[in-house]
Amino acid sequence: MPEARLKKILSVFEGKKGALISILQRVQEEFGYLPEDALSEIAIFLKVPLSQVFSVATFYAHFHLTRRGDHLVRVCQGTACHVRGARDILETAQYHLGIKTGQTTEDYKYSLERVACLGSCALAPLMVVDDTLYPQVTTKKVIEILSDKKDGAKNEKIESKKS
Ligand code: FES
Repeated sequence: MPEARLKKILSVFEGKKGALISILQRVQEEFGYLPEDALSEIAIFLKVPLSQVFSVATFYAHFHLTRRGDHLVRVCQGTACHVRGARDILETAQYHLGIKTGQTTEDYKYSLERVACLGSCALAPLMVVDDTLYPQVTTKKVIEILSDKKDGAKNEKIESKKS
């Protein structure tokens, strides 16, 4: 974890008490997750026990203590999606990515999550990749979507090598 980037973030909160959640949010924006070293530095900076920082970081579901993939794949498992085959959708995504729910691929390209109702039950079954919704998704479509993304990632690499 580059210390200079963390120090820059902390400097904004100099003298501000009760800034723990804001600091954690900024650190996660910067690094994509909350590195363990950063939690220790934050505790020292705020003069609070590390256990306090850790308990806040683990309490809120949107904070992540491990590095996540570049793309977040979420598959809804709410009731409406469930009755329309969401389990097959999730299993297909797991199989295609080679990871279980809650895991990240070895190349840090994808993280896979199961979520409860996303509030768009009319679109069930629903899969979301980053900010893109895939309504009434089928297992065939899941493979297409995730294959496109994988190929897209390869093409991006090829493009960047060319330039
Ligand atoms: S149950 Fe999936 S969007 Fe509501």
